[in-house]
Amino acid sequence: MCGIVGYIGRRDATPVLIQGLKRLEYRGYDSFGIATVGSAIGVYKKTGRISEGEAGAADLHGYAGIGHTRWATHGEPSDTNAHPHTDCEKKIAVVHNGIIENYSELKRQLEGRGHIFRSETDTEVIAHLIEEHYDGDLLAAVNATLPLLKGSYAVLAIAENTQRIVAARDASPLVLGVGDAEIFAASDMTPLLEYTERVIFLEDGDVADITPDRFTVYHEGRVVERPVELIDWCVEDTRKGGFAHYMLKEIYEQPQSFYETIRAGIDDRVRQMVMEAGEITLVACGTSYHTALAFKYMAESLCSIPVRVELGSEFKYFTPPLRGLVIAVSQSGETADTIAALKMAKARNCPTLAITNMQGSTVTRVADETLLMRAGPEIGVAATKSYTAQLAALMQIVNLRCEGAFDDALSHAHLAIGDILLQDVHEAVALCSKADHVFFVGRGPFYPVSMEGALKMKEISYVHAEGYAAGELKHGPFALLTEETPVVAVCTPGPTYGVMASNIKEMKARKAPIIALGVAGDTELAEIVDIFIPIPNTHLLVQVLTASIVLQLLAYHTACALQRDVDKPRNLAKSVTVE
Ligand code: F6R
Repeated sequence: MCGIVGYIGRRDATPVLIQGLKRLEYRGYDSFGIATVGSAIGVYKKTGRISEGEAGAADLHGYAGIGHTRWATHGEPSDTNAHPHTDCEKKIAVVHNGIIENYSELKRQLEGRGHIFRSETDTEVIAHLIEEHYDGDLLAAVNATLPLLKGSYAVLAIAENTQRIVAARDASPLVLGVGDAEIFAASDMTPLLEYTERVIFLEDGDVADITPDRFTVYHEGRVVERPVELIDWCVEDTRKGGFAHYMLKEIYEQPQSFYETIRAGIDDRVRQMVMEAGEITLVACGTSYHTALAFKYMAESLCSIPVRVELGSEFKYFTPPLRGLVIAVSQSGETADTIAALKMAKARNCPTLAITNMQGSTVTRVADETLLMRAGPEIGVAATKSYTAQLAALMQIVNLRCEGAFDDALSHAHLAIGDILLQDVHEAVALCSKADHVFFVGRGPFYPVSMEGALKMKEISYVHAEGYAAGELKHGPFALLTEETPVVAVCTPGPTYGVMASNIKEMKARKAPIIALGVAGDTELAEIVDIFIPIPNTHLLVQVLTASIVLQLLAYHTACALQRDVDKPRNLAKSVTVE
């Protein structure tokens, strides 16, 4: 939520900041702004998308600057509430990702001391507090301010006549990029890929004093060394590459991202951890929660490991008794609720593993070990290739516990994924794009696949969708079935085939149009449903993948048919760093 970027060096900061913000726009896109520093601070900020408002920033110049793209928390999206925020005299500017929980109290005190506030944001208190402590030494003023803040922050601050940026992080991500006589700062690595592959992931409590050719990191007042790491993503990975949307590109990248994640394997330390686990608890949110649920079905039925799956947001307040390995599943590695749950598991002395796509992200710092997915940057807000890469990581754990029983299925899965991308879904799209409500149903691992199908549908097409265990529909939701309520049912061979077929007939009897995903050649199923979408008759694990991808395509094309903003759906942001 919210992306911040900073630059100091030999280039004009404005284009670097604007380009960097565009790369971070998936973190929030209701407004944006930049501030540059020369003899004075220049600020430009605007409601709406960067591409629509960036021209207005062209008059700002400087060799240092900071920028922000916003997902509103305190105060509606507006030009005034957009960051950067400045002090009374406009001599100091700050951008901030996170939430200052005690901002009301601080604001009251500051107003009592004569400070004039312009915005409704929590962030503005930071600018005024720095102002109170500023006597020409920005680092000292920031250091004096930070202990007064309660909450979470990644902050960048600049001051007039000062060729430096002071950066600080606590519970919000912040990465430095080291170039040749230039230094970058950003919420994640994506804005840095164009300029450098050398990055430093700051730790909670770090404060960095940054000038063009030098940076010093302090922790609790002492200088500390943070390792320079190399990023293995490249800038081409972040381009749309001729596709209409990032989401479509990312859907099409799945054969490769799945294959790469399988190929990378599991290192010895993670192997040992997985093999020693008597029970496994997974904590996750959203799409990652669905992959965790799919894992539960696969692990419990295929290799008899007891698995519990918890939503990060619930776990924190209602922590269950814990035994065994705790796995945090998070594409971004920065989801606040998942991190909080992971920290609680650590506090209870459980071994912890992070499954994430983001090298250096917070979950990798908190967990004992990391299993890194190899999906590459995912820019579309809706998770697609990260979802199947999470499945790749989790399926490897199942395979490991089953002594390699699924080696063959996993090493060939990318081929089936490639084939399913060619599946035509236009008839189903025509039905869904006319509907107000769509149900997605399945049994066993296809229940979480259905939940994920419904989540994709609602988040990008805004068509209301519910994912249900197929047997549950008649315990209430049947009341909603009409000839205008399509049901998407996943029905493949296996122990539940017969009962799924009966459920489909019951739904048909209530006049609901049925879109069924079944294995190619299943004419019996094809005859009883309205639209039949074949998936390859492969191993169960591979069917989980191919069925999921059909549902991604269905959501994507429905959203396009309804002319939605597919890559940036309304009200959302990709990385949910607030609780
Ligand atoms: C939906 C989606 C979200 C995320 C959720 C958790 O397409 O992307 O539901 O899955 O916000 O995010 P991560 O995996 O980054 O923890």
